[in-house]
Amino acid sequence: MDIYYTSGAIRFLTTPAAGQPAKSLIFVQLMFCKCIISICLLLLLIQCGRQAASSEKPLKPPATSEELGELLFFDSILSRGNQVSCASCHKPEHAFADNVALSFGVDSTMGLRNAPSAMNQGSRNFFFHDGRAESLEEQATGPMENPIEMDAQLTEVAQKLNAHSQYRTFFIKIFGRPADRENIVKALADYERTLETSHTPFDDYMNGKDTMRLSVAAKRGREIFNVKGKCFDCHFGPDFTGDQFRNIGLFNGRDLNDSGRYVVTRNARDLGRFKVPGLRNVSVTAPYMHNGMFATLREVINYYNEPDHVVPNALNRDTLLARPLHLTDAEKSDLEAFLEALTDDRFTKK
Ligand code: HEC
Ligand code: HEC
Repeated sequence: MDIYYTSGAIRFLTTPAAGQPAKSLIFVQLMFCKCIISICLLLLLIQCGRQAASSEKPLKPPATSEELGELLFFDSILSRGNQVSCASCHKPEHAFADNVALSFGVDSTMGLRNAPSAMNQGSRNFFFHDGRAESLEEQATGPMENPIEMDAQLTEVAQKLNAHSQYRTFFIKIFGRPADRENIVKALADYERTLETSHTPFDDYMNGKDTMRLSVAAKRGREIFNVKGKCFDCHFGPDFTGDQFRNIGLFNGRDLNDSGRYVVTRNARDLGRFKVPGLRNVSVTAPYMHNGMFATLREVINYYNEPDHVVPNALNRDTLLARPLHLTDAEKSDLEAFLEALTDDRFTKK
């Protein structure tokens, strides 16, 4: 048998007499080639599998539901196409609020309201600016399923988590079952309940731990907050909110047309009412209000000082804000110093 090499392919040229044995040789050679190809394909598949597994970055195994919730809060796996996480809009360095007026969700869609702080929510009865959710668990489904935020149905999120080798194990270890609608939101809510802040100059002053930590200006500001500014009438309680819905005059049915609580109750009385937000860490959560219309605390104070100056045609504004406050510049600075003293720097320094 002669073997010729032609343009890279092997050809077996046989003499007619030696036909039979040459054919079996071709068969053996073909089988050999097939085997090689199969082995290569197999190796390729194994390699791809390894790559897929290694693209799952190793996560610190959580010991509790809170720790699992923390992993989830920072993981974009909860959104369609793994684009945004809760922390994309609730940034730890801004006390878990966003630092832009309106946040961007999946496919860079712009939201309709300002992302508030997700901290100090443990004692709240209502969530969202209009209070449409009544528990942190109910709240958490909101952003995931909202088409302009994370746009992923919870059942799909559960499937993704269960297809992820590490999360699946974590859920089984902590909840005794794979991820599902209930335990995903439970873990997130449990994590959020750990985000309570109280290590502030104001708290140290109030509980007598370190009365010097509250500056003299902030002490004067506290007085203005409680009396002349009437802030305390709405912002009271340990977190500076009475959990009520009030209208401070940021609704005119025209350019300011978010009707707030009315969306939930359809009661005309609630037109333009919004949840009174807590004020802990407020110095790091700018911009302010449901629409992020004020960039600084000074702008907020200037607004309260003279609401008509900013929104002259407000509808249903609360009578507490009927008259200008006549705060001097020094009083405004003191009030600002007080609001700044509500900052827990354990989180913001991270
Ligand atoms: C695309 C930005 C975005 C993402 C992502 C997002 N949020 Fe929010 N979050 C907001 C906005 C905006 C609001 C206020 C919406 C409203 O009032 O209608 C809000 C409200 C909240 C509130 C209510 C706070 C309050 O004062 O009532 C909590 C708690 C919260 N989000 C937690 C979460 C959690 C948990 C996730 C992840 C599962 C998440 N958010 C993902 C933007 C976002
Ligand atoms: C009538 C009740 C009421 C009074 C009085 C009041 N507030 Fe408010 N405050 C609210 C409501 C309601 C909002 C939320 C409005 C919105 O989101 O559009 C708010 C929002 C704020 C915000 C923005 C918080 C954020 O995270 O966006 C700050 C800061 C604030 N108030 C400080 C003050 C100060 C300082 C005073 C006193 C000068 C004061 N408030 C008086 C009800 C009140």
